[in-house]
Amino acid sequence: MRIFVYPGSFDPVTNGHIDIIKRAAAICDKLIVAVLVNHSKKSLFSLDERVSMLEKSLSCCENVAIAHFSGLLVDFARSNGAKVIVKGLRAVSDYEYELQMAHLNKKMDENIETLFMMANPNYSYLSSSIVKELVLLGGEIDGLVPNEIKSVIIEKIKNERE
Ligand code: PNS
Repeated sequence: MRIFVYPGSFDPVTNGHIDIIKRAAAICDKLIVAVLVNHSKKSLFSLDERVSMLEKSLSCCENVAIAHFSGLLVDFARSNGAKVIVKGLRAVSDYEYELQMAHLNKKMDENIETLFMMANPNYSYLSSSIVKELVLLGGEIDGLVPNEIKSVIIEKIKNERE
């Protein structure tokens, strides 16, 4: 069975992530979306909220599982039988950091490959940070995040502001 893992903070998941998830799921038997239990990086949404938003957004995708991890990504991949780490690249600026991570992960486990997928150009400007900033400043996020979680995001940011 060909198992891929797609890691990230997903704070929150965006349509850019969903696009990569669907394309990756189409070329493997099982895709594990692995949510990082952030330690150093502070997230706006709790782990439960981030997982729940992914579940709501991905209910249609049969071969996609949602899990969480802390510690090294290669350890998580290995213990889940995943031989491929999927990463999305939006622009050249993503490449340098991702190349470093891919080499580092390869050094730690030579049996695990990193597969880069080019982000859909429609979402090349999109990030979780941009979504949060837009909501905070009263902008529209239609089409940027899955419809199922739009209100959850807006409510959370509104409550944080109060
Ligand atoms: O969505 P993000 O925040 O860009 O995702 C980053 C992520 C989760 C892919 C990255 O931080 C990660 O792989 N963290 C796990 C720790 C690890 O294995 N680091 C690489 C070696 S130090």
